[in-house]
Amino acid sequence: MGTKRHMADHVRDAIAELNAEGRVVDLFSGMGSVAESLQETASVVTNDAMSFTAALSRARFTGSDRSTTSAEVIERLLPGYEARLRELESTYAIELKSEAAALNGSRTDLLDYMDKAQHVGNSAAHRRSAKVAAESSGSDHYELASLYFSAGYLSLRQAIELDATRAAIDTDSHLEDRDWMLAAWIAGASVLINAPGHTAQYLRPNSNSAHTRIVRTWSRSIWDEFSSALDTVSQVGSEAWRQRNSVYVGDALDLVSAGELRDIGTVYADPPYTKDQYSRYYHVYETLYRYDFPDSSGVGRNRSDRFTTGFSLKTAVVSSFHDLCRNVSRMRVPLVISYPSSGLLGEAGITVSEIALQYFEKVKTQSYEANHSTMGASTGASKKSATENLYVCLV
Ligand SMILES: C[S@@+](CC[C@H](N)C(=O)[O-])C[C@H]1O[C@@H](n2cnc3c(N)ncnc32)[C@H](O)[C@@H]1O
Repeated sequence: MGTKRHMADHVRDAIAELNAEGRVVDLFSGMGSVAESLQETASVVTNDAMSFTAALSRARFTGSDRSTTSAEVIERLLPGYEARLRELESTYAIELKSEAAALNGSRTDLLDYMDKAQHVGNSAAHRRSAKVAAESSGSDHYELASLYFSAGYLSLRQAIELDATRAAIDTDSHLEDRDWMLAAWIAGASVLINAPGHTAQYLRPNSNSAHTRIVRTWSRSIWDEFSSALDTVSQVGSEAWRQRNSVYVGDALDLVSAGELRDIGTVYADPPYTKDQYSRYYHVYETLYRYDFPDSSGVGRNRSDRFTTGFSLKTAVVSSFHDLCRNVSRMRVPLVISYPSSGLLGEAGITVSEIALQYFEKVKTQSYEANHSTMGASTGASKKSATENLYVCLV
């Protein structure tokens, strides 16, 4: 997600130098690399517009020390998982057979199978089933991944496993483990998702190597990945640190204008810097996490009610930076901004410092060479080298 792991230590050091009392708000926290780097430095408030990131943040940055092991969670969930798995295997018996044949066949067989696949975006019958599942309060509710993302982002078998795992998680009574289990469920799916790092579109077997890779990936088990992810989604920092942290989901500009944040020492902002709306690139994880049976369209099988931000719009990026700087300066705390020289704001012919100086006394700029993910949107290499700047804005 344009993760700034390589910048996280610089950000931590810049924040530590400010010596500000109070928590650090990470307004665009994504995968939380900055929050993680602050575990020895300050308590954190994370925020992101995508709710699936919040499940990961809650699992890692909040909560008491876990009293359960991964093996105990697996043992607890297994009966519910197997029960729903059997039901879905029977519902999709014919389709599962076709999928197995396509996977054992040629590249063209698999291409044909994927191209003809029915899902909510192209089939009225699937839309009707989605409506029934959305309204069901029993185990029938657990069919979203199969109806929306199978034979594309995942194999049908994997989608069924994903739905069955979710059924087991949602019916588990240990609510204290819920964020951990959901974060592992998302993380496990992300390992096997048939897409290039982001999920704007899935990959098709257009070459022999792509065919081999899809056949190999689709033979792997979601349940196994979920089990391993329970171990990898570990809690960060001490219990005392986690207990002072908070996790928000929403528009960063709403959060800083609402005036509800308490005990804040510094605000950190790492806003989007390209015209690509994150919600288009990560919609599969968002829909899986929300499990809310939205509409779906296009080759990407995307929901239409995606979050959009002015930071990714040429016509709104300047006013978004003004809103950010104005609202944080009113909180009377320093604002640290990460933004590359090549960011969208530059296209509007203005710099972050020029805007920040209208609201803050002083702006110090530090620059670093970095590799940026282009999210595969542009042609050419998926990473390009860029100058990443840190703007430390002082009240
Ligand atoms: C450049 S990435 C931040 C990456 C993060 N620092 C990390 O290390 O993972 C921008 C993030 O902002 C989120 N986002 C975009 N617009 C937003 C907005 N207006 N309010 C809150 N979050 C937003 C995106 O979902 C994405 O996770």
